[in-house]
Amino acid sequence: MRMINQFKNQMNMKKSRLIFQIGFLCIVFLSISLTIGPQQQNEYTYDQFQTPEYCNQCHNLFYQQWDRAMMSDAYTHKWDEIEYFDLAVAHSRNDPDMEKVHETCNGCHTPMAFLAGDMPPPKPESNSRANESVSCDVCHSIKDYTSDTPFNHNYVIEPGDTKMSSRGSTEGSPDHNIKINDLLGKAEFCGICHNEKSPFGIWVKSTHLELKEGPYYAEGVVCQDCHMPDGPSKTAKMGNFYDHAKMHLFNGAHDKGKIWGTIEIGIAPDRQEYVPGEPAVFTITLFNQKTGHKFPTGSVEDRIVWLHVEAIDEEGNTYHLPVDKKGFNGEEYTIASDALAYQDLSIPLQLDNFKGIRREDVPIGDRIFRMPYFSPQGTMTIMQWNTDSLGVDYRFGPRETKTETYTFNIPYDIAPGELAVKAVLNYRLLVKPVGEFLEVPEEEYQAMLVNEQQTQITIYP
Ligand code: HEC
Ligand code: HEC
Ligand code: HEC
Ligand code: HEC
Ligand code: HEC
Repeated sequence: MRMINQFKNQMNMKKSRLIFQIGFLCIVFLSISLTIGPQQQNEYTYDQFQTPEYCNQCHNLFYQQWDRAMMSDAYTHKWDEIEYFDLAVAHSRNDPDMEKVHETCNGCHTPMAFLAGDMPPPKPESNSRANESVSCDVCHSIKDYTSDTPFNHNYVIEPGDTKMSSRGSTEGSPDHNIKINDLLGKAEFCGICHNEKSPFGIWVKSTHLELKEGPYYAEGVVCQDCHMPDGPSKTAKMGNFYDHAKMHLFNGAHDKGKIWGTIEIGIAPDRQEYVPGEPAVFTITLFNQKTGHKFPTGSVEDRIVWLHVEAIDEEGNTYHLPVDKKGFNGEEYTIASDALAYQDLSIPLQLDNFKGIRREDVPIGDRIFRMPYFSPQGTMTIMQWNTDSLGVDYRFGPRETKTETYTFNIPYDIAPGELAVKAVLNYRLLVKPVGEFLEVPEEEYQAMLVNEQQTQITIYP
């Protein structure tokens, strides 16, 4: 009897947990569908969109620019393929709570496949039309978005003979009609895909929201000003010459030149001269002079920026300087260590007893500018859809200046003379241990130089 009661109790508990979970999921689903509005999944076919090659007949310059940008690789690029098929699609399959989560990826990475209901789309190697990724005709058919905030591909899209443009003329094209639509000149247009909320209601991408809260937006500076700069050019082979044509560069974190110089670095010691045994304190000032949003932004779950500081004496002996702790909440995530993380990879990959992998693998003690994402399992995660909370935000805001101090107790065996102090700020699009573990091509996680600086102090014997 006791056994039966216990069994009943357990069943009841399970039932109420199940009801609770279903209820919770319904609320999440409802709140997302209410705020996003109706989505146009399954509404169109691929044939209703022109290919980029079609537009290339006349808009050849924009085609060549787009072709060199990530927009044209948003579905085909290797790391996207690995994360989509090996993690997101697998996660949808292995975890009933995550059913269909992979379909949302396509809404931004290959909108035509999403609109055609072709999900998951054929793999990139089959060369299907899903490979067109974020194509000309996708963007130029976007008329509007469906809620106050643009996010999670809440576009209203209408393919056809009419192309949307923010330019003030509807004449001139032998091929198609032109409709003036101010949305294309606004940051909100980009926010449709550059803001993302996870199924747990967490902002896991907020580039547009960051811009909106920062100083640039108030001054009328939008995404297009920095990523589609105005240049004197024709917009079509047979068309007019304009002083301000919108260059389709979409250059971001994959462009070394765009990254370079984002942060200015200054180093100042507390004095000029020291003797061994004394502490020297270096204050490093880091100023974000280039981004309208935070740095890093976008795929923040993958990205790290870190500062490596060394002192080099006259005999070439090198001393690594770890950053001084500031004592804020969550600071441990901003100082490199040998901690393990990303244990939730075991869900899509179906690994038993997975202990996790190194959190960052950069020199221990270096300052990291990042924001950690946390999974419902309580681990740090690189799967942004599996994020139910965010940790400390220690990234550079637009025009923000951060200062870091480094205390160096001058060793007695140091060579007297000039001591050089060098600071190098590096950027990685994907933490290295994850890149290695998932066999992502090395170029995806190679360190890129953001900036460097050097100064000298004098050591007396
Ligand atoms: C239909 C969705 C969509 C719209 C609209 C959109 N983007 Fe994107 N964009 C993407 C996707 C998806 C990627 C990611 C490509 C990748 O790395 O897989 C991307 C990548 C980028 C990158 C390159 C980032 C890098 O890591 O190098 C930049 C820059 C960018 N977009 C800027 C813009 C700007 C500016 C606008 C507005 C004018 C805009 N995007 C509108 C979907 C969109
Ligand atoms: C004042 C200039 C400026 C404005 C405005 C601006 N950006 Fe950027 N953006 C940059 C620079 C510089 C970088 C390269 C450094 C970096 O990666 O953040 C960049 C990088 C990016 C990246 C790659 C980020 C990463 O770290 O992976 C994306 C995506 C992007 N921008 C999208 C946008 C979108 C969308 C908007 C508008 C909501 C926008 N940008 C507004 C200057 C700007
Ligand atoms: C047969 C040539 C031809 C083809 C094909 C073509 N266009 Fe155009 N398009 C033009 C010309 C010419 C203009 C007017 C250019 C001007 O303003 O002088 C134009 C104008 C535009 C404009 C308005 C901005 C402007 O410069 O006036 C947009 C947006 C546009 N085209 C997008 C597209 C897209 C997207 C495709 C492919 C789906 C495409 N076009 C295919 C010739 C073409
Ligand atoms: C990520 C979305 C996106 C993609 C992809 C895209 N465009 Fe555009 N395009 C825009 C936006 C936004 C503007 C207007 C920018 C503004 O007003 O600041 C624009 C402007 C234009 C214009 C008018 C130029 C001008 O100076 O006003 C033409 C023509 C055009 N695009 C053609 C193309 C062609 C052809 C392709 C593909 C090779 C393409 N676009 C891909 C978003 C996109
Ligand atoms: C709301 C639009 C949106 C959704 C939904 C979305 N992405 Fe993205 N994704 C983007 C944009 C925009 C970028 C580029 C951000 C940047 O450069 O920092 C990006 C970047 C990425 C990157 C990094 C690419 C790189 O070059 O480093 C991967 C991988 C990726 N997405 C995979 C996915 C997967 C898998 C899903 C579904 C579980 C997904 N995305 C859902 C818009 C989206």
